[in-house]
Amino acid sequence: MSDKIEVATAAASGANATAHFTSDKSPYDAVKETPKERVSLLATEVLSAIHDTIRKHHVTYDEYIALKAWLIEVGEDGEWPLFLDVWVEHVVEEVNTSHRQGSKGAIEGPYYVPNAPERATDGVGTIPMRDDEGGTPLVWTGTVTAVDGTPLEDAKVELWHADDDGFYSQFAPGLPEWNLRGTFSVGAGGAFEIHTVQPAPYQIPTDGSCGRLIAAAGWHAWRPAHLHVKVSAPGYELLTAQLYFPGDPHNDDDIAQAVKPELLLDPRPQPDGSATVDYSFVLDPVA
Ligand code: DHB
Ligand code: FE
Repeated sequence: MSDKIEVATAAASGANATAHFTSDKSPYDAVKETPKERVSLLATEVLSAIHDTIRKHHVTYDEYIALKAWLIEVGEDGEWPLFLDVWVEHVVEEVNTSHRQGSKGAIEGPYYVPNAPERATDGVGTIPMRDDEGGTPLVWTGTVTAVDGTPLEDAKVELWHADDDGFYSQFAPGLPEWNLRGTFSVGAGGAFEIHTVQPAPYQIPTDGSCGRLIAAAGWHAWRPAHLHVKVSAPGYELLTAQLYFPGDPHNDDDIAQAVKPELLLDPRPQPDGSATVDYSFVLDPVA
């Protein structure tokens, strides 16, 4: 694949994340109005943090105008979901899951789509993929249990991830609708065995406004290769997590700051070129 096509496809992914967020599948539909007092408190403190930064670093008028232009571009490019999920969501995730005793979570990111096809019979199944799907085949086994050890036989594992070129179906063009997106109902003992392929590292689109910030600041645009999951069971807190692969150069400097040591997989290469991996989930009961 040429660089030119990759860049064009990546930019479309960013704008599609906004289209998805504002569509009828939007998570925003489920959000109730935020109370006035809370809006006032949070807006006042965020503005005051900005004022402090301006005073501390003596921000110039040129810098203020550059900021204004850039903020306008983020909206025009449709990159607010990318911006927020890369640079803000990890702290929202941190404060909202710090009470948990079970598995660690991670950010959802901009590319989740609910209701992916159900692919498991008794917990065993293969994610939708193309006949010639690239990437190391991966056989992932595990269980879903409660923090008290009870197997959760009515649990579901939703899995979505990028392909071997770093692209997500429904956000990059040219991919089958549900490619590398599946729902797996677990089997006896809460066990599952999911067949998929290893994703490639993902680069934040570099030719939109988020890319311009990255270039202007001299940062890099990479997230390490990752699998996204949502693990759910009635009566238990929804776990949204990402799993990472050892040895990825960006595990230590993920631009989205979403890697935790507990989320590293331990894949075992097999003679046929595939890899097997064990990773299980432990869910906290709803309080
Ligand atoms: C972004 C992309 C991801 O795949 C992810 O997991 C988190 C954030 C992003 O481009 O904002
Ligand atoms: Fe991702």
